[in-house]
Amino acid sequence: MEKIVSLCKRRGFIYPGSEIYGGLANTFDFGPLGVELNNNIKNSWWKNFVQNRKDMYGLDGGILMSPKIWEASGHIAGFIDVLVECKKCHKRFRADQLNNKNKCSECEGELTKPKKFVPMFKTFIGPVEDSSSIAYLRPETAQAIFINFKNIVDSFHPEIPFGIAQMGKAFRNEITLGNFIFRKLEFEQMEIEYFIKEKDWKKHFEYWKKEMEKWVISLGVKKTNLRWRKHAKDELSHYSKQTEDIEYNFSFGGFKELYGLAYRTNFDLKNHSEKSGKDLRYIDLKTNEKFFPHVIEPSFGLERTMLAVLSEAYSEEEIKGIKRVVLKLKPSLAPIKVAVFPLLANKPGLVKKAKTVYDILKPNFPTAWDGRGNIGKRYYAQDEAGTPFTCTVDFDSLKNDDLTVRDRDTMKQVRIKIKELLDYLDKKLK
Ligand code: GAP
Repeated sequence: MEKIVSLCKRRGFIYPGSEIYGGLANTFDFGPLGVELNNNIKNSWWKNFVQNRKDMYGLDGGILMSPKIWEASGHIAGFIDVLVECKKCHKRFRADQLNNKNKCSECEGELTKPKKFVPMFKTFIGPVEDSSSIAYLRPETAQAIFINFKNIVDSFHPEIPFGIAQMGKAFRNEITLGNFIFRKLEFEQMEIEYFIKEKDWKKHFEYWKKEMEKWVISLGVKKTNLRWRKHAKDELSHYSKQTEDIEYNFSFGGFKELYGLAYRTNFDLKNHSEKSGKDLRYIDLKTNEKFFPHVIEPSFGLERTMLAVLSEAYSEEEIKGIKRVVLKLKPSLAPIKVAVFPLLANKPGLVKKAKTVYDILKPNFPTAWDGRGNIGKRYYAQDEAGTPFTCTVDFDSLKNDDLTVRDRDTMKQVRIKIKELLDYLDKKLK
């Protein structure tokens, strides 16, 4: 994990938040390569779960919503962490995560009595900071889906079963921190509420388990590093009748929650209907039946996906005495697809030719230019960034109008005509 953290900083994937002011715990900024990797993950999710399906509707709801939503959803009363603090070192722990409930695991100090705590960030709307102007930053994206359920039904008249999907930021005032981007204060969720008839819930639950697993494996995560874990009764969220987590074997402590799959029953639609006074029941036009659909909720975290993808891709190799670190990202996820170099940066003829290649590639693929240092260092940097192909323009290129293309994983080099380069890369990057 330490190696991944330092590679992420060095190569511009992830920077510690507010770093020049000493940092702000558990906040991070995504650098140029991190933004691209995240966008590639999100695009894959959206394409797979929304665009490629006939039964899914996309949504982008607000981060700030009426506080009444969080009362109706049960978050204000039921979304609670229980906190204890060490009287000696003042470290805070979630009571449900302690092995020894009496002593601090860090310094063996005495622990305070458990205290309840709502991990939603509060803010105020308008200039007056009083109880009537309180608003919460959403702790899950899901509620925007429930409160827009009727809008979507009225606009699109979907037949049950169907889903509504959204991705976006969520915020939680987490007590236990650490483990890099595994648990952040501000993170991104990709969630689906899949509306079904109650009698079918088990069938849909099993179906979504397979879909979740299939997607994460498609990103390059090994099946052997995944497992499902069913929540015990006392672990279930206030809205859930059954939850299973798909866990990933993280390098910092073994299997931990990657994503959650919950059977939320009709808890949310029913409560919003009662509290808002708006009828959120669905009418089955074939049978005229009027009912609150039940819901299966596959909920994905972007940062945990990124961490699993980076963990799988990170490798150290020694080939013919040369050591290298290489991020073997799937080409579709790689932030930069191809890099272009002149063999020597101080030969204007090579630089000019390489720039024309760069100009051809740039509008077609995320392309990097590197004219610093020697060729070995440039390969090293692009391997660490996970760039699948590098193109080097040399003296033969000036005569033959071709160049060398190096494959990141095999390190094999082939000679390709510049006029055939776009086609060649296009096929390889698919
Ligand atoms: N709507 C259901 C829900 O929010 P959750 O299990 O609390 O369920 C879903 O969160 C997913 O969001 C988790 O499986 C994880 O991937 C991600 N997640 C939750 N809290 C997080 C945090 N503090 N930092 C990073 N990701 C988080």
